[in-house]
Amino acid sequence: MSTLSGRQSRVLSGMRPTGKLHLGHYHGVLKNWVKLQQEHDCFFFVADWHALTTHYENREVIAENVWSLVIDWLACGVNPNMARIFVQSRVPEHAELHLLLSMVTPLGWLERVPTYKDQQEQLREKDLATYGFLGYPLLQSADILIYQADAVPVGEDQVAHVELTREVARRFNHLFGREPDFADKAEAAARKMGKKNARLYANLRKRYQEQGDTEALEVAVALLADQQNITLADQERLRGYLDGSGRVILPEPKALLTPASRMPGLDGRKMSKSYGNYISLREDPKTLEQKIRTMPTDPARVRRTDPGEPTKCPVWDFHKIYSGKDTREWVLQGCRSAGIGCLDCKKPVIDAMQTELEPIRARAREYEKDPDLVRNIVNEGNEAAREEARETLGEVREAMGLSYR
Ligand code: TRP
Ligand code: SF4
Repeated sequence: MSTLSGRQSRVLSGMRPTGKLHLGHYHGVLKNWVKLQQEHDCFFFVADWHALTTHYENREVIAENVWSLVIDWLACGVNPNMARIFVQSRVPEHAELHLLLSMVTPLGWLERVPTYKDQQEQLREKDLATYGFLGYPLLQSADILIYQADAVPVGEDQVAHVELTREVARRFNHLFGREPDFADKAEAAARKMGKKNARLYANLRKRYQEQGDTEALEVAVALLADQQNITLADQERLRGYLDGSGRVILPEPKALLTPASRMPGLDGRKMSKSYGNYISLREDPKTLEQKIRTMPTDPARVRRTDPGEPTKCPVWDFHKIYSGKDTREWVLQGCRSAGIGCLDCKKPVIDAMQTELEPIRARAREYEKDPDLVRNIVNEGNEAAREEARETLGEVREAMGLSYR
C-alpha cells in the first residue's frame, strides 16, 4: 500500500485491557499483527481509557491487565523494534483531539453507532448511560486520526467505528481544510517543487479542471508523491488544489477486516472469555492437558465401543486447525469405526497446542521476570507515539484557529 507522501503505509490498532488473552486472540488477531508489522509502519496500543468507559468501577482490573496484555503481545511476537507499542493514557494528545473532534461531531452520529445501544443492553448490570460511553467511538476516531493511520485492522464488530472515523475526518477536512488563503498557499507550495515541476503541475491541473481529464489527475498525484523536498502539509494542499477539495488534514482510514477467528472453544462455540471455554496463552501444560481431556465429544460415543461422528464433535474442530492430512484421516476412520478412543484422538491436539504455546509461555516468563524491560519498551513506544501525535495535533490546532500563543 503506498500513500500520497510515498511513506510506508501506517497501521494502527488497539485492544482494551479487560482480561487475559487466549488462543482465540492469538489466531484471530495477534498472528495478523505480527504479519502486518513486517510490511507496515505499525502502532499497537493498550486502550485503557476505553476500558474505563465500561469498567470504571473495577479500576484495579485495568492496571493489572495493561502489563499482562503487553506481555502477551510481546510473547506472541509483536516486536518493539518493528512496531510501536504504547498505552493510550500516556499519550494525552488523544484526549485533546477527542475534545476538538467533539465540537464538530453531531450527536446523532454517535447515538446511531450500533454498539452504543447493543452494549448498553448486553451489559445491563452496568450503568452505561454516561457521557464517556457515548463518546467511545469518537475517542476511537481520535486514536486513529491522530496517527493519520491508513489502515485499521479490526473485527467485524468494530467496522462501524472506523466508518464513523471516516465521516468525522471528512467533516473535519470540509470544515477546516479550506484555509482562507488556500489558493495562495497552494501556489506557493507549487513553486517549491521547482520551475519545471510547477509548470507541469499547473498544466495537469488545468487539463483536469477544464477538460475532466482523469489521466492528468493521476499523473499529477504521482508527481506529488515523488516530491521529496516539500512538506507533507504542502503535498496535501497541492492534492486538494487539484480538484478543489481543499486540504486533507486528517486522512480517512480504511478498516482492514480481520477474518473472523475460526478458533472454536472447548465446547464447540466460539472461544471466548465469557463462555469460559478458552485456553489462555499462558495456560500451564497440566491445565491445558486437563482441559482437553475433559472436553465434550460426540455424545453418541457413550462407551469406547460406540462409533462416533467427528463432524459432531468439538475435538474435530481442533484437528481441522492443528492436524495434518494423515492424522485427520486417522481420526475420521478411527472414530467412525470405534477403532480409537476419544483420549487417543485428543492426544495429537494436546501435543500440537503444547508445541504452539511452549515458546509463547517461555517468552512470557522472561518478560514476567523483567518488569523493567516491559516498562522500558512501553515508555519508548509512548514517546515515539507522542511525537507523531503532537505533529497532527499541531496541524489540527492551527486549522481550528488555536495556534495563537
Ligand atoms: N474499540 C476497540 C475494541 O474494543 C479497541 C480500540 C480502541 C481500537 N481504539 C482503537 C481498535 C483504535 C482500533 C483502533 O476492540
Ligand atoms: Fe470426537 Fe475424536 Fe472422540 Fe470421535 S474419537 S468423538 S472425533 S474425540
